[in-house]
Amino acid sequence: MKRTIILAALAAAALAPMQALPQGAKLKVGLMLPYSGTYAALGDAIEKGFRLYLTEQGGKVGGREVEFVKVDDESDPAKATDNVNKLVKRDNVDVIVGTVHSGVVMAMAKVAKDSGTLLIVPNAGAGAVTGAMCAQNIFRSSFSNWQPGYAMGEVAAKRGAKKVVTITWKYAAGDESVGGFKEAFEKGGGQVVKELSLPFPGVEFQPLLTEIAALKPDAVYTFFAGGGAVKFVKDYAAAGLKGKIALYGPGFLTDGTLEAQGADADGLYTTLHYGDGLDTPKDKSFRAGYAKAYGAQPDVYSVQGYDAAQMLAIGLAATKGDVSKKAEIAKAIEGAKIDSPRGPFTIGASHNPVQDMYLRQVVGKDNKVIGVASTALADPGRGCRM
Ligand code: BEZ
Repeated sequence: MKRTIILAALAAAALAPMQALPQGAKLKVGLMLPYSGTYAALGDAIEKGFRLYLTEQGGKVGGREVEFVKVDDESDPAKATDNVNKLVKRDNVDVIVGTVHSGVVMAMAKVAKDSGTLLIVPNAGAGAVTGAMCAQNIFRSSFSNWQPGYAMGEVAAKRGAKKVVTITWKYAAGDESVGGFKEAFEKGGGQVVKELSLPFPGVEFQPLLTEIAALKPDAVYTFFAGGGAVKFVKDYAAAGLKGKIALYGPGFLTDGTLEAQGADADGLYTTLHYGDGLDTPKDKSFRAGYAKAYGAQPDVYSVQGYDAAQMLAIGLAATKGDVSKKAEIAKAIEGAKIDSPRGPFTIGASHNPVQDMYLRQVVGKDNKVIGVASTALADPGRGCRM
């Protein structure tokens, strides 16, 4: 009798479908983004883009409904470890999506690497995340700081600048952006004659603008974004430098900021992996969907949020929603061509997008794409495929 019961139980177990996940278990996504401070608008745009893609997929990825847990990281590296640990240890999230600031993302990458939690970075370009720290479970849907900087270095040299002064916030994003610019610009025969900086998120630009006026370079290269970019472009014009000394930068200088910068941004050249007037079917449908959902036009940050959700969906489609299958998720994302509003892109060996860098010019309220500055530009990270 006893033996019959055991055999029946074994037979039933063999027939039962393999179920790694409890039925109906929601996918917990931890959004760690700046919702306050100089990068608040960037965090908001990323979340909107991410949610738009989810809505297009009927609210599910890998067959699982999504629930969000949100943390405002305030773009503060000092609070970053505590903030990311709240998501991983307290809230037990399945995936972390974040963040904007390169200093904050370093702590997130460390925790993701140590805990094995899947991390998709929808902005922060810190080279180390897809370089020294890269891992099977860490991906970026945006750029590395080096990429748009390098593209603009080539453009500035081709446009005939010989002597350039750089000015930025003193942290990884500014340093690496200037590094990329300098590498290409000096290769093209130019010279960076002075590197100016101020602490993040300071906006006391006046003394530095006075120094630039005295140095009289051919051009200025700058990395600022969000609220800081608005103020810098306005102060540059107010100091009488606009029209006298060419101002170049990665597209963060004028993306999502043109309403506030007004005529002071007119004519500026920038390089970035997105822009206005791409006129592709994918970008048109994305823009129409975004405008319908939010009553606003998207910017590069919205695109990066949208593509972070696409990458997550691609990875989890391969595992039917099982986040524990890291190697399968990585293989699926690494092999994908992502159908982005920016144009299709692939994920390189360091888990960073390999993508075109557009040359854009501000015309009215648009960052009009006027050409491709660098085609299929890959980050020089050493690669981390397992
Ligand atoms: C960064 O910190 O990596 C960053 C912030 C804003 C725009 C671009 C890069």
